[in-house]
Amino acid sequence: MKNSKIYIAGHTGLVGSAVLETLVNNGYSNLLTISSKQLDLRKQSAVDDFIAREKPDGVIICAARVGGILANNTYPWEFIYDNLMIETNLINAAHNNGVQNLIFLGSSCIYPKLAPQPLKEDYLLTGPLEPTNEWYAIAKIAGIKLCQALNREYGRNYISLMPTNLYGPRDNFDLQTSHVLPALIRKFHEAKNNNHAPVTLWGSGNPRREFLYVSDLAEAIRFILEYPGKLPSDLINVGCGNDISIKELALLVQEIVGHKGDIFWDASKPDGTPRKLLDIGLIQSLGWKHVVNLREGIEKTYDWFKLL
Ligand SMILES: NC(=O)c1ccc[n+]([C@@H]2O[C@H](COP(=O)([O-])OP(=O)(O)OC[C@H]3O[C@@H](n4cnc5c(N)ncnc54)[C@H](OP(=O)(O)O)[C@@H]3O)[C@@H](O)[C@H]2O)c1
Repeated sequence: MKNSKIYIAGHTGLVGSAVLETLVNNGYSNLLTISSKQLDLRKQSAVDDFIAREKPDGVIICAARVGGILANNTYPWEFIYDNLMIETNLINAAHNNGVQNLIFLGSSCIYPKLAPQPLKEDYLLTGPLEPTNEWYAIAKIAGIKLCQALNREYGRNYISLMPTNLYGPRDNFDLQTSHVLPALIRKFHEAKNNNHAPVTLWGSGNPRREFLYVSDLAEAIRFILEYPGKLPSDLINVGCGNDISIKELALLVQEIVGHKGDIFWDASKPDGTPRKLLDIGLIQSLGWKHVVNLREGIEKTYDWFKLL
């Protein structure tokens, strides 16, 4: 198993780099990576050639077009097209080349906007999506269905994991495209260095979100990769099981960063889904649990950000 050839697509990203680090640290000796400059995963023939040449034993798809509310809303075409192409090309090439095991990543934000909480795996496709990210969500749901179709018709073991909001070292801290947690770290850090200037944040601060430190997701991916026997489902949530309001999160980040100024909330900006908490009963019943708590994870992430 540890010398199986496993291709990590998107190994430079937040998740992919954590997966690479975790697998290397756990003795995996035959990992396959390639940069997006050498292989654009949106190009079908290039992906076909690469997979046919390399013949991996397993594939972990961490490559995707990813971003926060602003990026999703501003670049609908890139979010739907890039994600559809990347996942379709990789899943199709893996199947055509006899790859039996593949892990694909969905996201908690692709469940229906008003689904009951906590979100169970079988709530997928039971209601309308959050409009600001439906482009991304529709592409990701298609990826899950590609995997399920191959499992059903060809007996593949293509598992979709549904991570909650992730954060950690190597996150995207660009305010135009980042998710909420890295954006908060950057805003409070810059305001602290600007004489503790006030910070204005998007929305009401009332939505509740769940956050998972990225190395915990990487461990969950390793757990699924090494799971002995058949998994009870090909769609599995990965979270920490607790949520926090954006207001509480902002106060926690402010404290860790050491910003002493005011916080203003710009309620004219969209809030997104009111609450997003995963039901993690399934993965817990299999024996996996996160280990890094939110304060510790934000402290580690801020330490990394300060080195940028
Ligand atoms: N971040 C979160 O909070 C979160 C939450 C739930 C689920 N997820 C899922 O986790 C996965 C990874 O997300 P992430 O946050 O790690 O994203 P990320 O940091 O933006 O990394 C994306 C990776 O994909 C690669 N990539 C993008 N377009 C490509 C292309 N056309 N050809 C080749 N490579 C390409 C990037 O390579 P370059 O850097 O070279 O462009 C990078 O390695 C995604 O499927 C996402 O949906 C993320």
